[in-house]
Amino acid sequence: MRFTFKRWALLVAIVAARATGGETDRASSTVSIVTAEVNEGGQHIEISKVVETDRVRRAEYDAALSVLQKYETRLHSRLMSQAERRSILKLRRNVWKLVPSAVRAHVRKVSGAVGGMLGLGGSGGGSGDKAAYQRPGVGQLSREVRQSIDTLYELAKAGIEDAVFVVAEMEMYGKYGTAVDVDSAFRHYLQLSELSGNATAQYMVGFFYATGLGSVEQRNGHSLLYTAMAALQGHVPAEATLAFRYASGVGAAMSCAEALGHYQAVARTAMRHYLSGPPLGRHMPGYRARLSDDRGGVYGVRTGPYSLHKAVDRASFDELLEYHQYNARAGNVKACLTLVDLYYHGHRFAAQDFAMARKYLADIMGRLFTRQGELRKGLAQAEASTAAQAAGMLGIMSWRGEGLAADTAAAFRWLSVGASMGHAASLNALGMMYQSGVQAAQDAERATELFKKAAEKQHQGGQVNYALAVMDKMPDVAMANFKAAAENGHILAHHYVAGFHATAMAGGGGEASCRMAVASYRFVAEKADWLHSPIPDAAAAAARGDVEAATLGYMRAAEMGYDVGQLNAALLLERAGAGGGGGGGALFPSAGDYEKQALVYWTRAANQNVADARTKQGDAYYYGRGTPRSYERAAAAYALAARTEASGLAMWSLGWMFEHGIGVAQDFHLAKRYYDQSLEANDAGRLAAHVSLARLCLRYLWAWASGRDVGEGPLFFAPRPVSHDEEERAAKPAAAAAAAANDLDHRWEQAAVEDNADDDANRDDDDVGDGGSLSESVFFIALLLGAAWMFLPLR
Ligand SMILES: *[C@@H]1O[C@H](CO)[C@@H](O)[C@H](O)[C@H]1NC(C)=O
Repeated sequence: MRFTFKRWALLVAIVAARATGGETDRASSTVSIVTAEVNEGGQHIEISKVVETDRVRRAEYDAALSVLQKYETRLHSRLMSQAERRSILKLRRNVWKLVPSAVRAHVRKVSGAVGGMLGLGGSGGGSGDKAAYQRPGVGQLSREVRQSIDTLYELAKAGIEDAVFVVAEMEMYGKYGTAVDVDSAFRHYLQLSELSGNATAQYMVGFFYATGLGSVEQRNGHSLLYTAMAALQGHVPAEATLAFRYASGVGAAMSCAEALGHYQAVARTAMRHYLSGPPLGRHMPGYRARLSDDRGGVYGVRTGPYSLHKAVDRASFDELLEYHQYNARAGNVKACLTLVDLYYHGHRFAAQDFAMARKYLADIMGRLFTRQGELRKGLAQAEASTAAQAAGMLGIMSWRGEGLAADTAAAFRWLSVGASMGHAASLNALGMMYQSGVQAAQDAERATELFKKAAEKQHQGGQVNYALAVMDKMPDVAMANFKAAAENGHILAHHYVAGFHATAMAGGGGEASCRMAVASYRFVAEKADWLHSPIPDAAAAAARGDVEAATLGYMRAAEMGYDVGQLNAALLLERAGAGGGGGGGALFPSAGDYEKQALVYWTRAANQNVADARTKQGDAYYYGRGTPRSYERAAAAYALAARTEASGLAMWSLGWMFEHGIGVAQDFHLAKRYYDQSLEANDAGRLAAHVSLARLCLRYLWAWASGRDVGEGPLFFAPRPVSHDEEERAAKPAAAAAAAANDLDHRWEQAAVEDNADDDANRDDDDVGDGGSLSESVFFIALLLGAAWMFLPLR
C-alpha cells in the first residue's frame, strides 16, 4: 500500500517538477533529487531515493528532537528547584497586597514588568519570529537548542508531519524554553489536520474554536465539527470532550443518547487499559489537586463552610510524615502500615514508591512474624489485625511484582495467611487465584466462596467478583453487590452498572435510564483516565511555575467536564487577567478576554456544585468582569450560593445589596437577615459583618428619621419571624441566573465587553465587594458605639 502510494506521489511530483521546468522551488529537495534520478533511468531507484531522502530528514528530525528533549528535562528540574524558592515570591506578593491599591496601580503603570516579576501574568507572547521565540525568565537558550528549533521549523515548513506536530506543541505549551505563541500553534495544528487528518491536531483545532484562544474566533459549530472528526478516529480526549458537551448542552444541543455513546467509548477504552495491567487491575490515577487548596479555598482560608482552616502545604504534610516515621522507628507497627499505605498508593506530596512501601512492610513482617512466616505468639488484637493487613499487602505486592520480583508462590502463601485472618483484600485476591488457577487448581466454587466472604466485609473488588460469579443464579444479589461497590466508587462496578442502565434504556427504559448510564460512564471516564487526562501534565506545569502550560492543560480538562479542571482554569485565568496589567497575556489578547473565559469556567464549575464558584459568578456580574455588569444576576447568583452552599460571603454580599438597594429593592430587614446569617456561617468574616450591621443600623435610623419606608416591625430588637416568602423572593432570580449561565456559552459572539482592566487589576481578587478598609472599620465601630448610646435610652 505504502509503496504504491509513494509511487503515485512520486509520479505526481515528477510531473509537477517537470511542468515547472524541474527547477522548483521553496521546499522540495525531494523533488529535485528525484528528477535527477529519473534522468538517469529506472523507477525503482527513484523510489528508494525518495525513501532515503525521507531518512535524511528523519535523522535530522530525530537529532533535533533529542537535543530538545534532553534540554527540556534539564529545564524542568531547574524550574522545579526555582519553584521551591517561590515561597519567597509569595511573601513578596502578600506584602505587595498591603500597598494601597492606588499606589499599586501607579507602580503597575510605571513598570509593566512588575506583573511579570510577580509571576502573575504572561508577557506579550512570541511572534513566531525565530529571534523572538525565547521565553523570558528561562535564561539564554544555547546555540545547539536554537539550531534544533530552527531545524524543526524548517522541517515543518517542508511539510514533515512529525515536525509540524512538534512545533505546534512547542508553541502551544511553550516547550523547550520557548515563548507561548498560540496563534502560530493554531496555524500549525490546522496545517497538520489538513495535511493528514491527524486526530490530535483536529482535536486541538476544536479546542481553539471552543475557547476562542488567541485571536481565533470562538465558534461552537467549527469546534463541534473538528472535535467530532477527531472522535471518529477514536481520539479519546475528543470523545470525552464531545461527551461532556452533549451531556450538559455546552456548545451543542443537550442529548443524552449522544453523550451516552461518547462516554461509553471513553469508558470502554479506559476499562481495557485498567484490565491490561497487573493482576487485580491498575492503580487508579493519582489525586487531582485543586489549586485553591494551596490557599485554603477559592477565597482563602476559613471563608466558608467548604474552605479549609489552613492552606494545604508541604510543611504540614512533612510534619505528619515525620511523626509517623518517628513512631515507625520506635517500633509502632500501625505507623509502619500507614507509611506502607502512603507509599503504595502515593500522595500529592509523596510519589508512589513501591520500594519504600516494601521497606516498611518488611519492618512489620519482622516484628509480627517469625522467620518461618508464622504469626508470633501473644500479639494484641490490634497487632494481629495489622499483621493480617501486612500479610495481605505482601501477598498482593508479590503477585503484582511491586517492589519485589513477582512470585506467585509467595503471593499465594501470604494471601492465604491474610485470608485465614479475615483480611478482606486477601480473601478477594486469593479468590482470584483460585478462579484462574494460579498456583492452585482452578476451583470456581472455592473462589466464589472467598469472594462472598470478601463482599460481606464490604470489599469492593470482592463485591464485584461475587456479583459476577452469581449473576446468572442470583441476579438480585449480584445487582445489590454491584451497586454497593459502585457507591463506594469502584470503577469496574460503575462500568457494569452503567452497562445495565444502557441495556435498560435500549429495552425501553427511556431518558431516566439514559441519564443513569451517562452518570456511571462519566464516573468511569473521569476517574479511570490514565490515557486521556490532561490534568497530570497541567499539575506538573503548575508545580514548576509554567503558568500558560498549566492554564491550557486545565482548560482542556475543563472542556472535558472535569470540575477540577474548571476550577483550576478559572483560578489561573482570573489571576492572569488581573495581573496582566490590562495588556493581556500569551493566551488571550486582553484582560477582558481572560475574565470572560474565567467566568465561563466559574459558571460550569458552579453548575457542578464546586464550592464558591457560584459566588465567583456573582462577583463577575457584580463587578462586570468578563460580562456586562448586572446587579440582578449578581444578586441571583449570591442568593443561590447562600442557599445551596451556605456561603457566608454570598450572604454578606446579598446583605450589602439589600442594604443599598443594588440589584434588588432596598430592604433593611432582609439586609439584616443576610448579615446575621453570614455572621453565623462564617466566623472569619465577623468584623466585616459587625461593621456592616453597625452601618445598616445607622442607615436604618436615618431613613426612619427622615420618614422613609423602612419596612414593618423593629429591626434590631426583635428577631423577625422567618418567612419563606422572602427566601423565595430572594432566590427566584436564581433559576434565571443558572439559565443565563448556561446561556453564556452561546452569547460569545456578543460584542466584547468594555474591559475595566485597570480597575480590575487594582482590585484585590481575594475579597468580595469589600466594605471595610481598616480606617473605615474603625470609623464604623465608633459609629456603632454612638448608635448603641442612642438606642439605650429608647429602651
Ligand atoms: C498526530 O501526528 C503526530 C506527529 O506525526 C503523532 O505523533 C500523533 O500520534 C498523531 N496523532 C494521532 C492521533 O494519530
